[in-house]
Amino acid sequence: MKRNRSFSSLFFLSLLVIVFVTLSTVSVEARKTNTSRKFHKRHNHKDSSNGNGRGSHSPYPAPTPPHYYGPQGSLFDVLSFGAKGNGVSDDSEALVAAWKGACKVAGATVKIPAQLKFLIKPLTLLGPCMPDLSLQIDGTLLAPPEASSWPTSSLFQWINFKWVQNFTIKGSGTVDGQGYNWWSSSEFYDIQKKSYPKTIPSMKPTAIRFYSSNIVTVRDIRIINSPLCHLKFDNSKGIEIDNITISSPENSPNTDGIHLQNTQDVEIQRSIIATGDDCVSIQTGCSNIHVHHINCGPGHGISLGGLGKDKSAACVSDIIVEDISMKNTLYGARIKTWQGGIGMVKNVSFSRIQVYDVMFPIMIDQYYCDKQICNNHTSSVVISGVKFDQISGTFGMQPVHLACSNFIPCTDVDLTDIQLSPSPKYKGLQQAVCWNSYGKSQGPLLPSSIDDCLRSGGGLIKRIARSHDRVCY
Ligand SMILES: *[C@@H]1O[C@H](CO)[C@@H](O)[C@H](O)[C@H]1NC(C)=O
Ligand SMILES: *[C@@H]1O[C@H](CO)[C@@H](O)[C@H](O)[C@H]1NC(C)=O
Ligand SMILES: *[C@@H]1O[C@H](CO)[C@@H](O)[C@H](O)[C@H]1NC(C)=O
Ligand SMILES: *[C@@H]1O[C@H](CO)[C@@H](O)[C@H](O)[C@H]1NC(C)=O
Ligand SMILES: *[C@@H]1O[C@H](CO)[C@@H](O)[C@H](O)[C@H]1NC(C)=O
Repeated sequence: MKRNRSFSSLFFLSLLVIVFVTLSTVSVEARKTNTSRKFHKRHNHKDSSNGNGRGSHSPYPAPTPPHYYGPQGSLFDVLSFGAKGNGVSDDSEALVAAWKGACKVAGATVKIPAQLKFLIKPLTLLGPCMPDLSLQIDGTLLAPPEASSWPTSSLFQWINFKWVQNFTIKGSGTVDGQGYNWWSSSEFYDIQKKSYPKTIPSMKPTAIRFYSSNIVTVRDIRIINSPLCHLKFDNSKGIEIDNITISSPENSPNTDGIHLQNTQDVEIQRSIIATGDDCVSIQTGCSNIHVHHINCGPGHGISLGGLGKDKSAACVSDIIVEDISMKNTLYGARIKTWQGGIGMVKNVSFSRIQVYDVMFPIMIDQYYCDKQICNNHTSSVVISGVKFDQISGTFGMQPVHLACSNFIPCTDVDLTDIQLSPSPKYKGLQQAVCWNSYGKSQGPLLPSSIDDCLRSGGGLIKRIARSHDRVCY
């Protein structure tokens, strides 16, 4: 009896399990059917609207999104919005139309197809958009080649991303600023005065600028020949730059690679930057910036500043620059401030930097100046907590050049494991120069003049310096 009862309850239990499994299988099947029906709809739509590419069916502007692919998101190909892709016709309106369409759909992609060139006038791509928007650049975006054809109201930048969030630029394509005309105005550039004569407009556009944008990734693409800076972030946060290539000729003046201003939480990695000016330029309002695994050069190296121009306030902190290779650059790891500024640079580290024929591999210049002589001031952006560690290779002019303010010395500047040999190509000085710089040095140190370059101590100075830092809180 006892056995029987337990047998029957077991039987009942099994029955329950079978019923449950059957029911849930049915519901899974139903869901599958529903999903696959949706997929069919998408693919049919794709087939009917995109026929044989080149946007032949596409009215302009397209009233509906052109086609979809996969469950990940919708694709907005500029060709479907009337772009010609011949490098001559103006495709700006098509890009803006594709952007506006994609902006409304979560996970959408604006596509710049491969092997075609799209002439784009200066424009703004405006957010906020639905999350996970991408711009897939496989072809080439071309800026107007004639400097004279740029509207004077758009001289600040070429492609302006404003208020975008959770956005990615990627692809194997190229963004070409066609800056040749702009640089040739540098024939008029006065090297002595470091300025243009009044008749030549000194304003030149940055290629890609992000303004007030958060959680942005730029990866894989090439950005070349910008009239001025190649990629700029302004008032932004949460930026990732990975595996990009930036290049412009060595004689292209002021063409920074990546320029950061008022921007926090940035990672820049695995990229190649060769321009006429700084590879990476970090300006006021930047903090928590990590720059690593970069090939830099030719150009002016990686810089913080110029900070404190026209007696302005500057605050830069928590910067890590490491695992960098620099070839044929004018400077290596550099901090530059103008006389008369206020604010502070603190907690900066430059480490594992390999230099090849770099004129000034290690530099702090608190007398930065765009004229032959600038007046000295008692006020200065304070510099404290800067580490140079494992910097090695060959230099052209001077291994270490630390020129700190006459009135507020630099403190906690540490030189550790510096091994720099003069390049046989140049006739540089062996002498390390440190002016008003307090900190520690630790071997190995080559040339040996680095060893007694820094002053030790400076505790009192540090406290005075910190009191100058109030503007940054
Ligand atoms: C499948 O779709 C139909 C009609 O759209 C709906 O009534 C049903 O609840 C869906 N079933 C599942 C399992 O999602
Ligand atoms: C957008 O945010 C989501 C959720 O945080 C994240 O998974 C995704 O990678 C982000 N996408 C982009 C393009 O930043
Ligand atoms: C880097 O970008 C190139 C295209 O520009 C791509 O072919 C390559 O796979 C990318 N590498 C990584 C590691 O993502
Ligand atoms: C210095 O900056 C690094 C990188 O941003 C950060 O992780 C670290 O906490 C900072 N140190 C101090 C003392 O603020
Ligand atoms: C400013 O101070 C520096 C360092 O003491 C000095 O070399 C330079 O000549 C001064 N400049 C002027 C214009 O007085």
